[in-house]
Amino acid sequence: MTERYAAVDVIVAKRDRRELTDDQIDWVVDAYTRGVVADEQMSSLAMAILLNGMNRREISRWTGAMIASGERMSFPGLGRPTVDKHSTGGVGDKITLPLAPLVAACGAAVPQLSGRGLGHTGGTLDKLESIPGWRALLSNDEMLGVLRDVGAVICAAGDGLAPADKKLYALRDVTGTVEAIPLIASSIMSKKIAEGASALVLDVKTGSGAFMKDPALARELASTMVQLGDDAGVHTTALITAMDVPLGRTAGNAIEVEESLEILAGGGPADVRELTLTLARVMLESVGIDGTDPADALDDGRAMDAWKAMIRAQGGDPEAALPVAAESHEVRAVRSGFVTRLDAYGVGVAAWRLGAGRARKEDAVQAGAGVRWHVGQGDRVEAGQLLATLYTDTPERFPAAMADLANAIVVGEAADIVERLPLVIDRVGR
Ligand code: URA
Repeated sequence: MTERYAAVDVIVAKRDRRELTDDQIDWVVDAYTRGVVADEQMSSLAMAILLNGMNRREISRWTGAMIASGERMSFPGLGRPTVDKHSTGGVGDKITLPLAPLVAACGAAVPQLSGRGLGHTGGTLDKLESIPGWRALLSNDEMLGVLRDVGAVICAAGDGLAPADKKLYALRDVTGTVEAIPLIASSIMSKKIAEGASALVLDVKTGSGAFMKDPALARELASTMVQLGDDAGVHTTALITAMDVPLGRTAGNAIEVEESLEILAGGGPADVRELTLTLARVMLESVGIDGTDPADALDDGRAMDAWKAMIRAQGGDPEAALPVAAESHEVRAVRSGFVTRLDAYGVGVAAWRLGAGRARKEDAVQAGAGVRWHVGQGDRVEAGQLLATLYTDTPERFPAAMADLANAIVVGEAADIVERLPLVIDRVGR
C-alpha cells in the first residue's frame, strides 16, 4: 500500500509549530496503529505535540482518529440511561468502587471501564482484583449482561476499544510525554466516547498527587475534555477536585476496598463520602434522574446490595476475607505538635514502593500493600503517637517507603500548617 504521507514530514510540521491537517492526523494515527509509523517516529511527534501544542480542531480530529482505530460500544435495551465517571488519577482515590453501585442503586446504568495504577497513582482494577475470584476482563457480551442484571459493571477496556490509544499510551509512559493536555484529553475521551455512555462526569484532579499539579492546567484539561465530549454528543461535566492531600485514610489495594466497604455501609472517612455523593449527584442530574438522594441509598443498604451483586456477577466473593500484607510497620511522631502537611504525592510514592503499584508494566501488584494514615492535615499530635502504618509482603521495601513518608507527613508548629485546597474546586460544563 502506498502511504499518503511520510511520517517525518508530519513530525517536522509539528516541530516547526505548524497546524496538522485533518488528513495528516487521520493518516498518522491510523499508520501508527498499523505499524507503518514506527515507535521512534510517534514518540518524536508526541514530544513535538507536548512542546508546541495542538488547537481545538487538531485535538478533536486526533480524538476522532483514535476512536476510529477500534470499535464503538453501545448498550441497547437497558431501559435506563447510561452514565460513566472518569478520574484523571490520584492517591487514595477509591471513589469509583462505592460510586458505580451507588449510582446504579439510584436508577442509572454505569458501564465503567477502568484502568490500572499509573506511576504513584492507584488503579481501580488493581484494587478490585484483591477481592478473591473477581475478574476485570469481560467480553462485551458479559459486560452487557452484568450491566443489564446489576446496573453497574467495572471492567478493563477490551483490546478492540481505541487500540491506537493503547499503543500510544504505553509509548508516552516511557518517553516523558504523558503530561501533554492534547494527548491526555484525546486519550481519555477517545476511550470514553467509544465506550458509548450517554453522559460522562470527569473528576479532574489537581495538587501534588495529581498529574495536573497546577489548577489552571487542570481547568484547561477539563474544558478541553468537556468540549470533546459535547462535540461527540456525550453530555459531559467536569469537576476539578483536590489532590493536594490523599483521599480518605488508605492508599493501596485491599485496604482501599476495605475503606470503600465502610462508605457503602454508610460510614467511612468524611471526604470520601462527600466526594462520592457529589459525583453521584452530578451523574444522576446529567441523565435527568432527580428526586433520589444518593445519601439514602448509602445509608439504607441499597448501594451495598448493588455492590455485592456486581462483585458476584464478576466472579468475586463479596463476603470473603480480603488479603492482608505479611508485614506491617508503624510510624510514630518524634515530637508533639501539629500535622502541618500530609502530602498526596509522598504518600502515593510510599504506597507504590511498598508494592501497591508497579515498577514495570509487566509487574504484579501486592494485594495487601499500602499505607494507612491515622492523622489528618492540621491535627494536633503528641510525641509517640501513631501517624501511619505501612504494609507489604516484602519488608526490604520499608526503608525507602519510610523515607518518602518522612517528607509526606510532617509534624511542626501550628503556624506552619499548609492550607488545604477545597475538596471541590470548580465545575466545568453543564
Ligand atoms: N488516563 C488516560 O487514560 N490517558 C492519559 O493520557 C492520562 C490518564
